[in-house]
Amino acid sequence: MTTSFTHDSRHLAESYERGSDLQFEGGKRLVERLGLEEGAPVLDIGCGTGRLTRWIGERLGSRGSVVGIDPLVERIRLARSHGGAVRFEVGQAEALDAFEDASFDAVCMSSVLHWVTDKAKALAEIRRVLRPGGRLGVTTIPHELSGAGTVARVLQPLLRRPPYAGHVDLSALGAGKRCTTADLVTLVLESRLELVELHVTQHASHHESGEAFLGFAEASSFGNLLRIVPEELRGALRADLVSGFDDLRGPDGVVVRGWGVLFVAKRT
Ligand SMILES: C[S@@+](CC[C@H](N)C(=O)[O-])C[C@H]1O[C@@H](n2cnc3c(N)ncnc32)[C@H](O)[C@@H]1O
Repeated sequence: MTTSFTHDSRHLAESYERGSDLQFEGGKRLVERLGLEEGAPVLDIGCGTGRLTRWIGERLGSRGSVVGIDPLVERIRLARSHGGAVRFEVGQAEALDAFEDASFDAVCMSSVLHWVTDKAKALAEIRRVLRPGGRLGVTTIPHELSGAGTVARVLQPLLRRPPYAGHVDLSALGAGKRCTTADLVTLVLESRLELVELHVTQHASHHESGEAFLGFAEASSFGNLLRIVPEELRGALRADLVSGFDDLRGPDGVVVRGWGVLFVAKRT
């Protein structure tokens, strides 16, 4: 199955724009490691509603050289509605034909790579559009750590019991090969990029309620989260998840922890 881009909506795009502080802060930390100079041309792949892309543009004093692309039309529409010098286009990591060879100093992929269906093709395209010495920065979820976070600890036991057991298709949550950290390193090296650094990261987000977290998770997965079960079970799964996350509520609200990997690679 390939990642589906047809379940997004204006409502989900707006929720993501409002609720994506976790990705925004993680994205800023990633960009800070890319050593960018003023005016540097940067491509932000999977930019969503463009919060991080606009921040990059402000930071680099964009003269129109910062570009954000995303396959989701609603998110690009919202990104463009803010105006400014940053350019936004509908597009995918696997097909960067709109961009010339060696045209960017850096490519950024914040919380995107685990969604990309053909990761080898995407990295080959990224290498092509990076100038020699240019850097790729990625934050993603490696497969071996995907079960260690709060979401998996709530979701997995639910999916093992009726009415969901035997009716679960996790491929709706990310397509193509699920990469471990070792797979990511191999992928980078096979793409003829040099790995500069790689870190395991931990993050936590705070939400008022199970309902608030679930709204964010649906926006973050552009409508794919509940598609892991057949349509007739989605209402029940949503209610079970809301109550599962509400059970975790403490003085700091619902705290959702997770693990990721941050890496920077360079075109030699
Ligand atoms: C969790 S959002 C991250 C958005 C933004 N980068 C941020 O840090 O807030 C994941 C984004 O990846 C995009 N995406 C998924 N598959 C993609 C692909 N093959 N190429 C480019 N973007 C993709 C989705 O459309 C979505 O907007």
